[in-house]
Amino acid sequence: MQLRLDKYLADLGVGTRSQVKQYIRRKQVTVNDFLPKGPEQKVVPGKDRIRFQGTELCYQEYEYFMLNKPKNCVSAVTDPYYKTVLDLITEKNRRDLFPVGRLDLDTEGLMLITNDGSLAHDLLAPGKHVPKTYYAKVAGSVTEEDVEKFAAGLEIGEKKPALPAELRILFEDRETSVEQPVSEIELTITEGKFHQVKRMFEAVGKHVIYLKRISMGALKLDEALQPGEYRTLTETEINLLKKQRKTVAGKEKS
Ligand code: URA
Repeated sequence: MQLRLDKYLADLGVGTRSQVKQYIRRKQVTVNDFLPKGPEQKVVPGKDRIRFQGTELCYQEYEYFMLNKPKNCVSAVTDPYYKTVLDLITEKNRRDLFPVGRLDLDTEGLMLITNDGSLAHDLLAPGKHVPKTYYAKVAGSVTEEDVEKFAAGLEIGEKKPALPAELRILFEDRETSVEQPVSEIELTITEGKFHQVKRMFEAVGKHVIYLKRISMGALKLDEALQPGEYRTLTETEINLLKKQRKTVAGKEKS
């Protein structure tokens, strides 16, 4: 793969396309220890040695991060008021990263951040039905009747009912609050409608008081990550996601 030198530098976040052109003109960039002819010079990532202000750059076509999204942080690239999930990824090479899907401001948990648009599309496309699992604390007693209602497909005020979802009751805490018990549950859904988990519980007359995503397709939140912490995906995780993509796409065709 060959790339224009200015694109190579801009992709890595060295600056905007016009800034990097300036850097090249000011002789702050070298290619294999020589000054380039100009911003349009073609370079081969991984083969040519590119230095900016003396420091060698490392080109990565794709980056993949797993973040444990904290509360009060928005699932966006930029925001005028809140910290974004991208602000938390401090060690990144690419400037074209984005969060794969959205979590509410008060939801915590697994957020995949990448610049791999094709993978993101396959994880989010409504027709692919990639399962997403959430852990939640719900005010009140979640019952077997609720489990059946979730499995049948709940009416949540959309044109069609929500697709059948798997609700598992983990624990009921009757001690902490004197007013009402708090139920701990896990819920797996295969869609991504706005406020979907909260709306599904509202549909059975219950209120979600804490929500955390724990998996998305083959990707599971690393329990060692505290809210606000992130790490790069391992090769195994990337391959699992890519493999799953083929399986889900295969299922869709049949
Ligand atoms: N469902 C919700 O209600 N909120 C989220 O953040 C994710 C799923």
